[in-house]
Amino acid sequence: MKKTIPTVLLGKAIIPNDGGELTLTQRDGDFAISLTGVHGELMSSRMYSSEVALSELGCAHLEGVENAKVLVGGLGMGFTLGAALQAVSISSEVVVAELVPEVVEWNKGPLGECAGRPLDDTRTRVYLGDVAELFLTQQATYDAILLDVDNGPEAFTHDDNSALYSIDSLHTIRAMLRPKGVLAVWSAWHDPSFTKKLKKARFDVSYKTVRAHKGKGSKHTIYLAKVN
Ligand SMILES: C[S@@+](CC[C@H](N)C(=O)[O-])C[C@H]1O[C@@H](n2cnc3c(N)ncnc32)[C@H](O)[C@@H]1O
Repeated sequence: MKKTIPTVLLGKAIIPNDGGELTLTQRDGDFAISLTGVHGELMSSRMYSSEVALSELGCAHLEGVENAKVLVGGLGMGFTLGAALQAVSISSEVVVAELVPEVVEWNKGPLGECAGRPLDDTRTRVYLGDVAELFLTQQATYDAILLDVDNGPEAFTHDDNSALYSIDSLHTIRAMLRPKGVLAVWSAWHDPSFTKKLKKARFDVSYKTVRAHKGKGSKHTIYLAKVN
């Protein structure tokens, strides 16, 4: 008889500001962060190639650049953060904004090894809170902003996130980027209306289709919006 592998609940977290609930589960050696209710899986340790591609594509212009500054929106399991650290020089800084404090704790604990403990890197700074709060200064601060807080350019984790993808917000994000800076956004689908919004916010826009894992699996889209 085939042995069933149990799914073990490792943790639960309430998303701030009347959000839903996140759970962290483990099945065999794999982890999943899910939104309880109808939404389902937010991130799995089985598939992370497109999360890595978000950093590789969004930071491609930073190879060898001293003192680069990168913002990662959404820690998840740390794959995007880990790949951003790989992509930038030793003198650079990568700020990761994470809305749910428990996600940071999970990354210090059981999730840490998934992406090679990127929180331990001395170039990492953690901002506990909504990534949108960091856009309020409107000062050209970052060489790259890498956003993966939802499943695409519409609210998924939290209703408040819908404002992030508005034309006004995209103008604000553009103002946060240094000359030749890049905003990269992860999406589970291609949304032509988002390309239009990015263009309206005066970005140079392209997108790449990447596979979920090692050239296989679902097709995901990485939007690359450059300051020209
Ligand atoms: C899909 S996961 C990110 C996966 C990540 N790219 C990785 O490599 O594992 C989304 C993450 O964004 C966080 N999040 C959602 N909305 C946020 C917001 N407005 N500000 C900061 N973090 C947010 C979630 O709690 C979750 O940890």
